[in-house]
Amino acid sequence: MNSSNIELLFKAHISKNDELFNELALNLIKEEEMKNHHLVANRLKKILENDNSYINKSNLIKRNLPPIPRDNEKGFPLLEIKKDYYNWNDLIVDSKLTEILKEVVRENKKSQILASYGLKPKNKILLSGPPGTGKTLTAKILSSEMNYPLLIVRFDSVISSFLGETSSNLRKIFDYIEKGKWVVLFDEFDIIGKKRDDPTEHGEIKRVVNNFMLMLENYTGDSILLASSNHPQILDEAVWRRFDEVLIYYLPDVESREKIFKKCFKILHRESSINYKMLAEETEGFSGSDIEQVSIRAMKNSLLDGEKRLSQDYIEKSIQRQKDNLRFKGSMKNGGSFTFKDL
Ligand SMILES: Nc1ncnc2c1ncn2[C@@H]1O[C@H](COP(=O)(O)OP(=O)(O)OP(=O)(O)O)[C@@H](O)[C@H]1O
Ligand SMILES: [Mg+2]
Repeated sequence: MNSSNIELLFKAHISKNDELFNELALNLIKEEEMKNHHLVANRLKKILENDNSYINKSNLIKRNLPPIPRDNEKGFPLLEIKKDYYNWNDLIVDSKLTEILKEVVRENKKSQILASYGLKPKNKILLSGPPGTGKTLTAKILSSEMNYPLLIVRFDSVISSFLGETSSNLRKIFDYIEKGKWVVLFDEFDIIGKKRDDPTEHGEIKRVVNNFMLMLENYTGDSILLASSNHPQILDEAVWRRFDEVLIYYLPDVESREKIFKKCFKILHRESSINYKMLAEETEGFSGSDIEQVSIRAMKNSLLDGEKRLSQDYIEKSIQRQKDNLRFKGSMKNGGSFTFKDL
């Protein structure tokens, strides 16, 4: 960071200009990452993440933002607000997908130019794909890139045992969204689709789905609304056409797996003999999240054993463990042919 930017950073802090401070701090983190100073970059990110003052002091709160809405029946919060720091390098997906996501950011950042021609940026996006393929990570990156807080709505907690409450919960959430600029993630959005197949709840759930779709359609604010789904097949045409873009996430191919391994191990000193190609080939069918779990387990064990550098051996063992876990999960899913006697 050059000296004039350091000066600006200090001035932003003194004048409590959180937006500028945040932007400069993020640039500094990016610079450290470019220089391969990942440890420093991660420590700086953690400091910012733990500093809730960003959210508390932001313009939104200055305008007396009401408290987070809660379910009337059970009293739990209907959404959570996060501020994370991620960038495009964190997401390893097909380049076409990144291109569309960058387009979304560009259109929303420059929405005023579009508005003067009566055009609106894309801001309703469906993210669909298997678990652990980067959908939530995408929401975090969009939130960082836009410098909007991330607002996460988990559908399973919105659906109340009294379905009438569900519609009122949705209303409360959309009222809240109206009060600021956010990246909103409607997580596990397909849970309402899934329930539609349940004959006992059919009528009510249909009403809830229609209600949500209507609220989505009527939303004309400046936030970016994302909905994530693991089961695209249960979402019908009527749902799909409500979104400006439908993005499909796949399990990573062999090249992407290699890149995700490299990304995960960045923070630790490693043996130069690590064969990433081999690791990628051995992990066919793994999601990005599986690879992250493999990497974290290997790094922890290596560190706690007092190793100076991470070696292939630790990673291989961790891959085996993940395969056992996945087999276990698979047998649970396939009608429970597994019993504890099998252990
Ligand atoms: N495409 C990817 N590129 C890089 N890292 C990834 C990718 N997919 C997953 N990961 C790693 O796995 C973690 C979990 O992924 P994420 O939470 O985004 O999955 P998800 O698609 O939201 O899954 P779910 O459907 O279960 O909610 C990420 O934080 C990241 O570290
Ligand atoms: Mg997710």
